[in-house]
Amino acid sequence: MDQMAVKIRAKDLNLFYGDFHALQDIQFSVPEKAITALIGPSGCGKSTLLRCFNRMNDLVENCRITGSIRIDGQEVVDDRTDLIALRKKVGMVFQRPNVFDLSIYNNLLFGLRIHRMVSGKDRILATIRWGLEQVGLWDELKDRLNQNARTLTLEQQQRLCIARVVILRPEVILLDEPCSALDPIATMRIEELLRELKRDYTIVIVTHNMQQAARVSDYTGFMYLGRLIEFGTTSQVFTNPRDRLTENYISGQFG
Ligand SMILES: Nc1ncnc2c1ncn2[C@@H]1O[C@H](COP(=O)(O)OP(=O)(O)OP(=O)(O)O)[C@@H](O)[C@H]1O
Ligand SMILES: [Mg+2]
Repeated sequence: MDQMAVKIRAKDLNLFYGDFHALQDIQFSVPEKAITALIGPSGCGKSTLLRCFNRMNDLVENCRITGSIRIDGQEVVDDRTDLIALRKKVGMVFQRPNVFDLSIYNNLLFGLRIHRMVSGKDRILATIRWGLEQVGLWDELKDRLNQNARTLTLEQQQRLCIARVVILRPEVILLDEPCSALDPIATMRIEELLRELKRDYTIVIVTHNMQQAARVSDYTGFMYLGRLIEFGTTSQVFTNPRDRLTENYISGQFG
């Protein structure tokens, strides 16, 4: 684990929702171009920690953060951070596929426009094709790019959401329980996709599902009551946890 390049480093990270101390003294290094899973019982702070990495908690009133998060050495917890650029570099995929009520084409064009990334019909189409290829959707959808994205299956919608992130050429992809709306087969296929994407991206995935963490991730962090209790390679955390709480959790004694 020591030789892994670190992409995100959180140091002395604390987060408060009003008076509630939701993240407590988090020290956390996310390895580059690998999949890191965050596990832990409901309410332990997984989503909150994930949202720190692209400053999504800024949208929550009364939320206050102290400490440091560096991505490639650059401080994120800083008023001067360019949030639009940050959220392009650190993209996010949510629990329910949140496709826009627009065509497949326009779902993908949306971010390209905001970030003024490409212009010209041919180049836009080539980029959209590339994005759909990255998530294994091009062959399926190439003849109906004008169809409303909400008519797709949930798996296709979630893939499209991933494509919408990938097309902006991020470096980090955050996923908050991305498979919880999907059936087991679709879930397996999304996991397969994530394993392909980790060649190019640093991935952090929050999951309730310990089997999923064990199947898909290279590293696992176990959280409990706002603390990161243990972090290590997934095989170490699952086969030889150092902390008693981790052991109890992965053996299904609570959660
Ligand atoms: N906007 C908010 N305002 C106040 N408290 C919040 C807010 N969002 C989350 N919390 C609280 O912070 C704690 C951590 O919540 P968080 O959603 O990060 O947990 P989680 O591990 O993702 O849980 P789950 O597995 O249920 O998604 C919980 O006690 C939750 O009630
Ligand atoms: Mg959550």
